[in-house]
Amino acid sequence: MTYRLRVTLLAAAAVAVAVVAAAALMYVVVRRQLVDQVDTTMQSTAQVAQELAERALRGPGPFFRFSSSVSGNANIPGQLVTASGTIARADYGPVSPIVTNEVKQVASGDRASFTGDVYVTGTDGHTYHVRVYAVPLGSGQALELWQLMDAVDATLDRLRDILIAVAAGGVALAALLGFLVARAVLAPVKRLTGAVEEVARTRDLSQRIGASGKDELARLARSFDGMLAALEMSLRQQRQLVADASHELRTPLTSLRTNLELLARGQPTDPEERQQLLGDLVAQMERLSTLVADLIDLARDEEMPFPVEDLRLDEIASTAVDEVRMRYPAVAFRSELRPVTIRGVRPRVMRAVTNLLDNAAKWSPAGSAVEVSVAGSEIVVRDHGPGISPEDAAHVFDRFWRAPSARQLPGSGLGLSIVKQVAEAHGGSVTLERPNDGGARFRLKLLSAPH
Ligand SMILES: Nc1ncnc2c1ncn2[C@@H]1O[C@H](COP(=O)(O)OP(=O)(O)O)[C@@H](O)[C@H]1O
Ligand SMILES: [Mg+2]
Repeated sequence: MTYRLRVTLLAAAAVAVAVVAAAALMYVVVRRQLVDQVDTTMQSTAQVAQELAERALRGPGPFFRFSSSVSGNANIPGQLVTASGTIARADYGPVSPIVTNEVKQVASGDRASFTGDVYVTGTDGHTYHVRVYAVPLGSGQALELWQLMDAVDATLDRLRDILIAVAAGGVALAALLGFLVARAVLAPVKRLTGAVEEVARTRDLSQRIGASGKDELARLARSFDGMLAALEMSLRQQRQLVADASHELRTPLTSLRTNLELLARGQPTDPEERQQLLGDLVAQMERLSTLVADLIDLARDEEMPFPVEDLRLDEIASTAVDEVRMRYPAVAFRSELRPVTIRGVRPRVMRAVTNLLDNAAKWSPAGSAVEVSVAGSEIVVRDHGPGISPEDAAHVFDRFWRAPSARQLPGSGLGLSIVKQVAEAHGGSVTLERPNDGGARFRLKLLSAPH
């Protein structure tokens, strides 16, 4: 069953219940009132008759118009009935004498009174609905009054027809409104579904639903657009990384292959040159391993398989300095580390800090200093090397980018992009500053742990 049909049926059912209940109640109340009116009239007539019973019974003449003579109401015919059912005196309308068992019981004193509906066939052959009221009168007799109910019944029948028509109209209107409302409400859902299906079918993440408005569905559409944009971005980045990586891997692989082919052909013959070539090969292999390791590090970014914890940035810096110092014994590290606690993933932050220190050491002339300071949730690494020109500064954080002058030195061009990625994944940032007195200064800002 479609959602639209369900809404339509629900609206119709809700209105049907309400309308039918109201109509039924109205019908019952009106009928009760009309019948009560008839009963009350007969009761007051009978009451007057009862009070004048003596005189009425002893007096001469027929009972004809008895009830109307005492009540002044000519429309209420009546008769006097004995316990055996004999009619003592009568005052007939169009209806034949009615003597039910209940009326006889009233006459014999077994019943206090009787009010009820009786259906009788009149002298004209018609079946009449008659309201009967009987009370004891005198000894062993009952005064029975009645009223024809055809006017009341006709009124009630008309009322019933009107109510049925109104209820049916109400239900139909509710169903129509439910249908229209459901259609209006579901139109954006339908569009959304269409767009989602289109994306699933074509796998084209560049599509957008482009909803306007402030309602819930517009919000849903916008979050869907947001999700598409994020997916598209991530997919594009991944494709770019794969493209860049395969390009970058090809160069060292080609040179490895050339050198290996040389060796395979038994060249060079000179043992010293041969030794040199083997040394080159090892260096190229190492470069390749670094590149692959960096690539894996870069690609792993989104996963974050390690826990986010409170980290002492100063301790990480001092561990990293110790490690880099071993690789670059000629560089003097000067650390000024204040105790700082940040939120982060230990191996990732460690990697970022090491990359900054490695670069600083790599570009430091022998004997010069690298200054490391930790304070206020950031670490600053400064060297006194050649520095970075303003044109290059725009690219240093790009993947695989290396300054032309850096091509001779080992490296993959991925170090700073890893630093940037780590910084952003941690809600921080990394910036390059160019001190007036030369060298480069990198500032890695992270989020401090809440106290
Ligand atoms: N401290 C620095 N001093 C001068 N140049 C730097 C420094 N750090 C980075 N660079 C420049 O930025 C480039 C990118 O650095 P990085 O991403 O770490 O790659 P890699 O170190 O593998 O070359 C380097 O090749 C270099 O040209
Ligand atoms: Mg580097």
